[in-house]
Amino acid sequence: MSVTNRAKIEAYIGASSSGKGVSIKRRLDELKPRRLLIWDPRNEYGKSGPGYDSLPALIGAFKHAKGGPVRARYVPGANMDLGEAFGIVCKLAFQAGDLVFLAEELSDVTKPSWAPPAWRQCLTQGRHQALHIIGAAQRPTLIDKTFLANCTLVRCLTLGYAEDRKTMARELDVGQAAIDALYVTETDTLTVMAYLERERRSKELTAGHMQFKAGKFSEKRTPHAGAT
Ligand SMILES: Nc1ncnc2c1ncn2[C@@H]1O[C@H](COP(=O)(O)OP(=O)(O)OP(=O)(O)O)[C@@H](O)[C@H]1O
Ligand SMILES: [Mg+2]
Repeated sequence: MSVTNRAKIEAYIGASSSGKGVSIKRRLDELKPRRLLIWDPRNEYGKSGPGYDSLPALIGAFKHAKGGPVRARYVPGANMDLGEAFGIVCKLAFQAGDLVFLAEELSDVTKPSWAPPAWRQCLTQGRHQALHIIGAAQRPTLIDKTFLANCTLVRCLTLGYAEDRKTMARELDVGQAAIDALYVTETDTLTVMAYLERERRSKELTAGHMQFKAGKFSEKRTPHAGAT
């Protein structure tokens, strides 16, 4: 078991349509993971790998890979117990190891004081298994506290609820005005999504703008004045 692996846990937090999915898809393009497992309840990551709605088939795909390259998404069926299924997928992520594990919409499957034990294990011991974890949530106040507490990178996009903005100001260690100022603008031809991102090891704070103009994507990143 390696003790040199550093934890890599990334949070993407923002209201619906704030740009979490756009951010994460770009991140996956950057990372180009050799091994990737996605908890994909909204079936949004079709380009990133084959989808499974059967847990035994998903587990089989990782067994078949024998530690080699593999990409798979679990898309739960309508009648699944989401919490239970998420626990099984987390257990698979931990046991398989050496992979990027993306968990979408954490408020479906965790609560502030509850999460499947295997999710907590991924968060607190995942570095020993070479896990790189990426999690997304619309409402930071409704998800497991262990997640934000352990994140090494936190990207916050626009949030609708004052209590969520207050929580994220604390998590990013910035004044709440900086979180309140985040926005999305959307017209027929232009979408602009603003974010603030804290890299917790270097403490670097970055202000970013992603945009789609006539279908073309661009992004600007600048050090934020509030950086410490
Ligand atoms: N390829 C694209 N071209 C133009 N606009 C896009 C494209 N992909 C996403 N968008 C727009 O970017 C915005 C953010 O979308 P995104 O999927 O990132 O939202 P989200 O934060 O993941 O929301 P949710 O929580 O509902 O999943 C939306 O307004 C969406 O219409
Ligand atoms: Mg999304």
